[in-house]
Amino acid sequence: MATYLITGANRGIGLEYCRQLQARGDTVLAVCRTPSPELEALGVRIEAGVDLTSEAAVAGLVERLDGLTIDVLIHNAGILERTGLEDLDTESLRRQFEVNAIAPLALTRALLGQLPAGARVILMTSRMGSIADNSSGGSYGYRMSKVALCMAGRSLAIDLAPRGIAVALLHPGLVRTRMTGFSERGISPQEAVAGLLARIDALSLETSGSFWHANGQLLPW
Ligand SMILES: NC(=O)c1ccc[n+]([C@@H]2O[C@H](COP(=O)([O-])OP(=O)(O)OC[C@H]3O[C@@H](n4cnc5c(N)ncnc54)[C@H](OP(=O)(O)O)[C@@H]3O)[C@@H](O)[C@H]2O)c1
Repeated sequence: MATYLITGANRGIGLEYCRQLQARGDTVLAVCRTPSPELEALGVRIEAGVDLTSEAAVAGLVERLDGLTIDVLIHNAGILERTGLEDLDTESLRRQFEVNAIAPLALTRALLGQLPAGARVILMTSRMGSIADNSSGGSYGYRMSKVALCMAGRSLAIDLAPRGIAVALLHPGLVRTRMTGFSERGISPQEAVAGLLARIDALSLETSGSFWHANGQLLPW
């Protein structure tokens, strides 16, 4: 059994990752700002008070983990603020870059010493971060920040290969969470995470650096 660290673990897809991983017997380190009653009910180790855009909070997390080995690091936390051309808000653009692109890279760097050979780093991106797939425009901050995350993932895959660490960029599908307003058109977090875990389990150094839909489809950049 392996140790998984999951960010954004208090709700949505992150909470469901914790649930399914714990149910199959893996060790879960749930990282969040504020724990939810649902997360607390799981009985997993919770590291709360971690705003991922705060260098001090991330340093505090690393200190508390005290060198613990992490086999799979899942960067799941993210924000979606729909800024179009008419209501372009540069603060919102910056915020989305901070949370969606910079924070996962900075946390990976901070935890590098705790990732053994054979570890996996998972970046939760979005199909909205595919340039080739963009046929509807808009959502500048979200789209741009997820493209940046994809590029960070690709570089990480190259830089971490000599250490035996594989990296995946994963899109969960349209999922019924707070981020999507619990869209009726979305799939359940349970279904999304079942697919995501299948992709994570199958990830190897040979497939490292690729962009996958949870359903197994390879997505274009
Ligand atoms: N749902 C979808 O259809 C969909 C589609 C494509 C990609 N994704 C991606 O999948 C991931 C999970 O999405 P979701 O649907 O589960 O979203 P969600 O329900 O809105 O949850 C987002 C999580 O991110 C955390 N978070 C946001 N900003 C943070 C910060 N500064 N520091 C620490 N934690 C922070 C939130 O914590 P708080 O509760 O403290 O705010 C929450 O736990 C995201 O990366 C998202 O972009 C989702």
